[in-house]
Amino acid sequence: MRKTIIAGNWKMYKTVVQAIELANGLKRELFAVASDEIDIVLCPPFTALSEVGEVLVDSNLQLGAQDTFWQDEGAFTGEVSPMMLRDIEVKFVIIGHSERRQYFGETNESVNKKLKAALGAGLVPIVCVGETLKQREGGETFKVLEEQLREGLKGIEEQGIEGVVIAYEPVWAIGTGKTATFQQAQEAQKYIRNLLVKMYNNEVAEKIRIQYGGSVKPENIAELIRQPDIDGALVGGASLTTESFTAIVKKASEVRK
Ligand code: 13P
Repeated sequence: MRKTIIAGNWKMYKTVVQAIELANGLKRELFAVASDEIDIVLCPPFTALSEVGEVLVDSNLQLGAQDTFWQDEGAFTGEVSPMMLRDIEVKFVIIGHSERRQYFGETNESVNKKLKAALGAGLVPIVCVGETLKQREGGETFKVLEEQLREGLKGIEEQGIEGVVIAYEPVWAIGTGKTATFQQAQEAQKYIRNLLVKMYNNEVAEKIRIQYGGSVKPENIAELIRQPDIDGALVGGASLTTESFTAIVKKASEVRK
């Protein structure tokens, strides 16, 4: 069975002091969740990565970043490289989040460059894909997912892809309170896995973890995680308090036991 992965994407929330407080709360509440059964990942903003990383030393929680650039170093004002993330013990990195695609000009091509750089640096990329409401209503969901994955994963060989996590995040379900039904999420994620079979092979596709993201809450995690192609969650708003993220992780781990 694929190992469950629950990640909290804190987006542009939390000062350093608030971030440390949240990380400490989660460490305290989640210490008993076995790290060989479930990956629990916290993705604070860049400014709090180091400090949160220190809180997480010797814990069962892991550190992730929300984005990265594709060069190791250079005159790229404002960017942070995969090598710099490794330098502060970051293990995971979100790539191609829909908010970056929507507001900051992220494209499938830049996702592809970032993905290659992240893998090259030994990070575990969480590659986000998902359709907008207009695309869903226009019957284009599968076409959009196929394009994002074929272009985003271009040139990634079998050995590389096994280390990648994919997050299906329908844009219309992010921060809107409108969760995709578990049937909608399962349908899209099954489509993604079948596409991975075509792009790689059955064995590889069976190994790749696919998270669902979009208004995940303590109330809906159990039914989502019971679906055969949903291997975890990428949580936004509900990852910002100890209570709700703890409840999500605990429910997910109960279902997966
Ligand atoms: P919400 O859980 O706030 O809908 O955000 C989802 C998301 O974008 C996680 O990356």
